[in-house]
Amino acid sequence: MPLEDTSYQIAELTADHLHAVLSIERDSFKDPWSLSAFRNFIVLYRTSWVILDGSEIIGYIVSQWVLDEIHVLNVAVHKQRRREGIASALLDFLFDRARAQKMSDVYLEVRESNEAARGLYARYGFAELGIRKSYYHDGEDALVMHRRVRRSDRGSDAEGA
Ligand SMILES: CC(C)(COP(=O)(O)OP(=O)(O)OC[C@H]1O[C@@H](n2cnc3c(N)ncnc32)[C@H](O)[C@@H]1OP(=O)(O)O)[C@@H](O)C(=O)NCCC(=O)NCCS
Repeated sequence: MPLEDTSYQIAELTADHLHAVLSIERDSFKDPWSLSAFRNFIVLYRTSWVILDGSEIIGYIVSQWVLDEIHVLNVAVHKQRRREGIASALLDFLFDRARAQKMSDVYLEVRESNEAARGLYARYGFAELGIRKSYYHDGEDALVMHRRVRRSDRGSDAEGA
């Protein structure tokens, strides 16, 4: 979804957004982050964003930037707004920033069974680096995924990691 063609806006995730974010979070994950987890994180790092349609929060991305590496820790889209390109817009935004700040690599973990997220990341050129056995509380494995940040590429147009 090209953001410039729409009324969507991306803004830094702040305490004012937490109520709406938590509602999407609880609707999206069986092991959702707590309010305090979000709150502590946004106090420490200013690298998380929400996407709004008018005044309504419809998705968010939480990331940690250390040296030249980014770790995407959380991304979710309102259940009723999926397959509209919202997560893609958030990833485009993240990669645009990453390029502007000369970051080199993006990493994330995803549940092996999470076909939607795996589809999204595959489309973004993330490649599987390995498996973290029993990474999640219920014992499910996580796939570790990686993509390099390249100066010229744009989000889903990437050719691969
Ligand atoms: C994963 C998630 C964030 C995707 O958000 P989204 O806004 O629906 O994603 P997009 O519309 O940008 O999808 C972009 C592409 O990703 C892939 N994709 C997205 N959802 C998919 C699905 N359910 N099945 C297969 N591929 C999917 C497709 O290639 C899609 O392109 P297309 O719609 O043109 O086919 C969303 O499903 C979600 O919030 N899930 C619950 C939370 C979650 O699992 N987060 C990821 C944790 S690692």
